[in-house]
Amino acid sequence: MKLKGDKLARNLLLASVVALGACATTAQSEQEQRLVFEAGHPSLQYWLLPDKPPYPKDNEPTAERIALGKQLFFDPRLSRDGNISCASCHNPMLGWSDGLPTGRGFRGALLGRASPTVINTAYNSIQMWDGRKKDLEDQAIGPMEASVEMNTDFDQMFRFLRNNEGYRTAFAKAYPGEEINKETIAKAIASYERTVISNDSPFDRWIKGDKSAMTEQQVRGFKVFVDPDKGNCEICHSAPNFTDNGFHNIGLASVDGGKGDPGRFAHKPIKILKGAFKTPTLRDITLTAPYFHDGSAKTLMEVVEHYVKGGEVKENLSPNIKPLHLTQQEKEDLVAFMEALTTDHEPVTLPKLPLK
Ligand code: HEC
Ligand code: HEC
Repeated sequence: MKLKGDKLARNLLLASVVALGACATTAQSEQEQRLVFEAGHPSLQYWLLPDKPPYPKDNEPTAERIALGKQLFFDPRLSRDGNISCASCHNPMLGWSDGLPTGRGFRGALLGRASPTVINTAYNSIQMWDGRKKDLEDQAIGPMEASVEMNTDFDQMFRFLRNNEGYRTAFAKAYPGEEINKETIAKAIASYERTVISNDSPFDRWIKGDKSAMTEQQVRGFKVFVDPDKGNCEICHSAPNFTDNGFHNIGLASVDGGKGDPGRFAHKPIKILKGAFKTPTLRDITLTAPYFHDGSAKTLMEVVEHYVKGGEVKENLSPNIKPLHLTQQEKEDLVAFMEALTTDHEPVTLPKLPLK
């Protein structure tokens, strides 16, 4: 909702810019001409995230809900064997991911896809690499149900939560008059996730006007990033969360044109979606190597080289993935720019889990 509002605001801004300009071609090229790459310039403000992400009407994030959600997020006792929590794969020490090419679940089961960061998922209008969940509430029970993830025994889990004094009190405060059930568990976890935010990176501070927040090289990298004739990255990694919440086949070898992991196509069988995956945010990207849903790129430079090549497999490739003409300097600038997208976070304190 909020994101739509932002897009609208940006389009309105563009429209007024276009109206002022004499010979507008397309909104995109007009925007390129109009962006002024100076710290704090009004033409760049569309990159700022709203301070607070949107939330559903029936789940306003109160302090009690956030605190309860945090306990649940870090509590391995929700899993069948008491060993695995959300934080096992979405570890704040590892950028709310796990540092692995693809996730490891129940008793070490190897998952088919990388664990995405939880950072800024609150701003996304659709969840999962293939978009099969609509929002954070809709997503939260999935990992418990999955036999390869937490493999939760729900009878056992509800018995534990309902018999635990600490949790009983916390649920009663967070959702008075409601039961401890899948719905309230999901709502509490989602409320906590909405506090896991990155919006104070050097890039954000530079956009707000702090000239010294980004280096000259990072500013050059930003230009390469948005320039349709150079990196053309913004077309998918769009403002303000560096994602269009869309699905694209970027030509990864493992996807093999959709003969490998079909991605979005499994849920929406339209040809263009064969092997298409959701555009991930790039905020805090330095913390979450390796990259891509198959973990195939170890470094940001490997990612850039992938795009410079225009992808490995050309079948069902997004029309916006084409070989790029970048100098070595421009590639390095692009990497330096992405390094400016990480917020210097306060360390996350672990919640006190209620023993009884
Ligand atoms: C065993 C590892 C593992 C555990 C445990 C786990 N996740 Fe995940 N999580 C993943 C993987 C892998 C994906 C991507 C799967 C896909 O898209 O097919 C994912 C996706 C997500 C997403 C979507 C992010 C996005 O950008 O689309 C959210 C949100 C999330 N998990 C939250 C949670 C919560 C909350 C829990 C605990 C209830 C949890 N996860 C437990 C591995 C895990
Ligand atoms: C056609 C849309 C599109 C364009 C253009 C694009 N990307 Fe991506 N990007 C994606 C998608 C989709 C993914 C996830 C693909 C996957 O894992 O299957 C991705 C993944 C990434 C990742 C890995 C993120 C992670 O968490 O694993 C980085 C970094 C990245 N892109 C940077 C860039 C840069 C830099 C450019 C410009 C040179 C660019 N992208 C251009 C759509 C695009």
